[in-house]
Amino acid sequence: MDVDQKPPVTMDGIVALAKRRGFIYPGSDIYGGLANTWDFGPLGVEIKQNIKNAWWRYFVHQRADVVGIDGGILLHPKVWEASGHISEFFDPMIDCRNCRSRYRADTLVEEKLDRKAEGLSTRELTEILQEANLACPVCGERSWTEVRQFNLMFQTHLGPIEESGTKVFLRPETAQNIFVNYKNVTQTTRVKVPFGIAQIGKAFRNEITPGNFIFRVLELEQMEIEYFIRDSEWESTFQHWLDAMAEFYDWIGLRRDRLRVREHETDELSHYSKRTVDYEYQFPFGWKELSGLAYRTDFDLRQHQEHSGVDLTYYDQANEERFLPHVIEPTMGVERLLLTLILDAYNEESVTDVNGKPYERTVLKLHPRIAPYKAAVLPLSKKPELSGKAMEIVRDLRQDIVVEYDETQSIGRRYRRQDEIGTPFCVTVDFESLDDNAVTVRDRDSMEQERIPIAELRQHLHDRLNQ
Ligand code: GAP
Repeated sequence: MDVDQKPPVTMDGIVALAKRRGFIYPGSDIYGGLANTWDFGPLGVEIKQNIKNAWWRYFVHQRADVVGIDGGILLHPKVWEASGHISEFFDPMIDCRNCRSRYRADTLVEEKLDRKAEGLSTRELTEILQEANLACPVCGERSWTEVRQFNLMFQTHLGPIEESGTKVFLRPETAQNIFVNYKNVTQTTRVKVPFGIAQIGKAFRNEITPGNFIFRVLELEQMEIEYFIRDSEWESTFQHWLDAMAEFYDWIGLRRDRLRVREHETDELSHYSKRTVDYEYQFPFGWKELSGLAYRTDFDLRQHQEHSGVDLTYYDQANEERFLPHVIEPTMGVERLLLTLILDAYNEESVTDVNGKPYERTVLKLHPRIAPYKAAVLPLSKKPELSGKAMEIVRDLRQDIVVEYDETQSIGRRYRRQDEIGTPFCVTVDFESLDDNAVTVRDRDSMEQERIPIAELRQHLHDRLNQ
């Protein structure tokens, strides 16, 4: 088939497709939405699940040196004192006095004044913005508040009465569950340094300027590993994890040409990090962080040891040596990765069908590991002899893979719908199938069709999905 590639999609196009096809809906939609919250629909939840399963399989099940945990969202308030989040987890914020729009001051300086803002104090940011006499991007007025620091942690209270309850925070990163369970894991399993603890879970951040669809959200899921090592091993381990993250991206079909590595400069490092490298992706709104890799030294274990009074050193029996492990941390956000995978997979094509007839199609060329449905079974007509046979096939395939059944509309429209939601294979049951016990399998990307005996279909799809 002839394929003519068109330019990449806009964010508006992706948001519309996500809603139209049931990937992602605005949060609390029937009440007019709650700003910057999103809900995952039937197809979105499948992709999310596939991302998390792929990550867990790649980094936990396929390795001998990583084990998992699943910790709570609420942790003891002292955890956040020890981790530095109470004193350090701030963003600089500024308000327009006229229209009350709120901005991150460092982003305003970088984007509107084209100046580096990393590491600048609130006073310096205020001075720069006052000197530039910047107009508010929303109302055009030039009346700003001072720049203030804003802690990003969401707060709540334990206990029925707010005033007498204990103030607690929703975790802003999953990492701290791992540090506070590190001793439990070393005492109850056979792990030996070097080893990692992995976790997937929700984290919450009261972002000043969320946006760009699900790129920056208030409630996110993180997939994190804290990998415990001797300090002398940190450089080689850092490189190992940098490579492992790129290999994982290949494994789930992310395009390398829209990915780059960016080293953090000293003044932008987080309070716990000695070296951080981001994987950046070329979003329609520019190159932005997709995921990160940090050398957290022994900062977290040392802090927790001091604040809890519990000895967190590791005893290496073979060398009769006691030390506090250092940590390399690969971290990824599920929503951000999901967004990049959809952007990457999105194609609009002018194609010709088997009869030489031209038509336009939107196709999500998602990797089979990520695609929400692996196959769709489509009887050519609703006649019971065909639908009965098709349903038998569906029941059989569902032992292995997620399959959709669709008997409505013309076959061409059904193919187009499956292309748009990224289904790798369509299985068509026609009248010939009743005689020859075979079906037509159509490949989403090449649109080529092949006749396959029903008895071999399950194995055929299994092989092609796992190529
Ligand atoms: N434990 C280290 C840590 O939390 P981070 O760079 O703040 O590091 C890790 O976050 C990853 O989580 C980011 O690379 C990004 O993929 C994702 N992430 C962070 N904040 C996010 C937000 N507000 N919305 C969506 N994803 C976010």
